[in-house]
Amino acid sequence: MIKKGIILAGGLGTRMSPITKAVNKQLLPLYDKPLIYYPLSILMLAGIRNILIIVNKGQLNQFRKILPETNNLGIKVSYKEQQRPKGLPDAFILGEKFIGNDNIALILGDNFFYGQSLTENLKRNTYLKKGATIFLHQVKNSSLYGVAVLNKKNKILRIVEKPKKNISNLAITGLYFFDNNAIKYSKNLKPSKRNELEITDLLKIYNKKKLLKASFIGRGGTWLDAGNIQDYYNASNYVSAIENRQGLKIACIEEIALKKGWIKKSQIIESIKNYGNCDYSSYLKSLI
Ligand code: G1P
Repeated sequence: MIKKGIILAGGLGTRMSPITKAVNKQLLPLYDKPLIYYPLSILMLAGIRNILIIVNKGQLNQFRKILPETNNLGIKVSYKEQQRPKGLPDAFILGEKFIGNDNIALILGDNFFYGQSLTENLKRNTYLKKGATIFLHQVKNSSLYGVAVLNKKNKILRIVEKPKKNISNLAITGLYFFDNNAIKYSKNLKPSKRNELEITDLLKIYNKKKLLKASFIGRGGTWLDAGNIQDYYNASNYVSAIENRQGLKIACIEEIALKKGWIKKSQIIESIKNYGNCDYSSYLKSLI
C-alpha cells in the first residue's frame, strides 16, 4: 500500500522564463489556485497523506507561505531542498530518509490530471506491493515526453525518453508508483546527455525485471502539463471552462480533505480566515 508521496517542485522553469525568474513555476496560478494544488490534490485523492515536497535551494519560504508544514488539510507536509535539478530519480535519493522502508508515489509539480474514473484508478494502484506502475495517456506529439511501446496484450516492450521518431503515442505521464527499490536503483543510474538522471532509465530497470505495469488514463480522462507557456495557458483555460460551467472547483484541497473525513468544518473556517475575502473562500464557505 502506498501511503507516502513526493511532489517534485524543483526545476528552473527555464521554458517559461522570464515569468519563472523570481517565482517557482509551481507557485504560479493555474487559473484560480497555485499550480502545486493540482498534483497535491491527486496524491490526496489517492489517499496519500504523508507528503514530501522537493523545492529549489532558497525557495522554501515561498512554498511554506502556500503550504505550511502545519496545515489545515489533515496531511503531513515536509520539505527538502535540492541544490540543483538533477533529474526525476534524484527525488528518491533526496527523499531516502522520508521514504524509509516504504513504497512511494512520485508526481511532478507541473502535471495536471482530471477525469471521472481517475480516483478509482489511483486508489486501485496504491495497493502496489512490488514493482512499479506508470500511467499512460495518448498524446499527438509524443516527442516531448517519455513514451512506452506496448504489444497487443498491453505488455511494455520499450520505453524511450523523448523519441525523435513517432514510435508510440502513449506518453508516460508525470505520476509514478514505485516499490522501495527505487532508491537503490536510482543511486546506480548514470546521468544522460542532458546531465540528468532519467526516470525512463529507472523504468527500464523495472521493465527488464518484468515488474513494470502500465495503467491507462483513457480518452475520457485528461492529462495536461505546464511545460511551456502555451500548455500552461491551455491548462488554465481548461480549469476555467469546467469550474465556471459546474460551479465546482478542481483541486480544492480543503474540499478533498473534508470529504475524506481528514478535517472538520472548524478547519475549513480556519482556512477561510487565512485566505481572506476571495472567490476561493466563498467556495469554501459553500462547502460548510
Ligand atoms: C519528464 C520525464 C518524461 C515524462 C514527463 C512528464 O520530462 O523525463 O519521461 O514523460 O516528465 O511530464 P521533462 O519534464 O523532464 O522534460
